[in-house]
Amino acid sequence: MGRDEGGVQGLRIVDVKEESPIWEHLWPVVEQLAQRPYIEAQAGHFRSSHVLAAIMEDRPVGFLRFVVQRLGEDEGRPPIVFQDRTLYEAKIIAFGVLPEERNRGIGRSLQRDAMKRARALNCCQVRSRSDYGNSANYHLKISLGFGIQPSLEDDSVYFVMALPAEESLESSGGDDA
Ligand SMILES: CC(C)(COP(=O)(O)OP(=O)(O)OC[C@H]1O[C@@H](n2cnc3c(N)ncnc32)[C@H](O)[C@@H]1OP(=O)(O)O)[C@@H](O)C(=O)NCCC(=O)NCCS
Repeated sequence: MGRDEGGVQGLRIVDVKEESPIWEHLWPVVEQLAQRPYIEAQAGHFRSSHVLAAIMEDRPVGFLRFVVQRLGEDEGRPPIVFQDRTLYEAKIIAFGVLPEERNRGIGRSLQRDAMKRARALNCCQVRSRSDYGNSANYHLKISLGFGIQPSLEDDSVYFVMALPAEESLESSGGDDA
């Protein structure tokens, strides 16, 4: 058994590569939650794609997919540059946990793991979109500290979490402002 992720006993979060044998067991989970289109979606502006699986007792019980994209590119907007570097974000486009495994912290662990990986990939933020009425997802995102931007298009919101770079975290530590 691997380390316990986020305090959930027996939980492992693994990075699922294209050739991973785990796909055979992950697809039924993805299909049960009707998220195959989001796992398979491709777009020219995706710089990389990352699928995480939540594993309990060697069995996938949940998943999250995020893609790395230049901030604004999906909306046809120009690059945003900070300290001579173009900003990138991690956009979460698939996320689910099997109904019988919910409300024990697996979704929270997947989100936290995605943030950690996104920061390591030099993303400045994590973003996702969710329809109104998804109470569990709203509770989870708001309690994790995500900011909320209501969509201008429909009854959905964008959740956004800033990911300060490691060096800016270090330089802000210890000094009382
Ligand atoms: C959203 C989802 C992934 C969360 O997974 P999970 O493993 O249950 O998440 P967690 O257990 O870490 O957290 C769920 C939180 O929501 C809370 N919650 C559950 N149902 C709720 C409801 N109806 N209203 C408010 N809060 C609710 C839980 O109490 C828990 O909060 P807590 O940790 O403060 O107690 C899961 O509900 C899911 O798969 N939903 C269907 C797919 C989906 O909506 N995906 C996201 C949008 S694409």
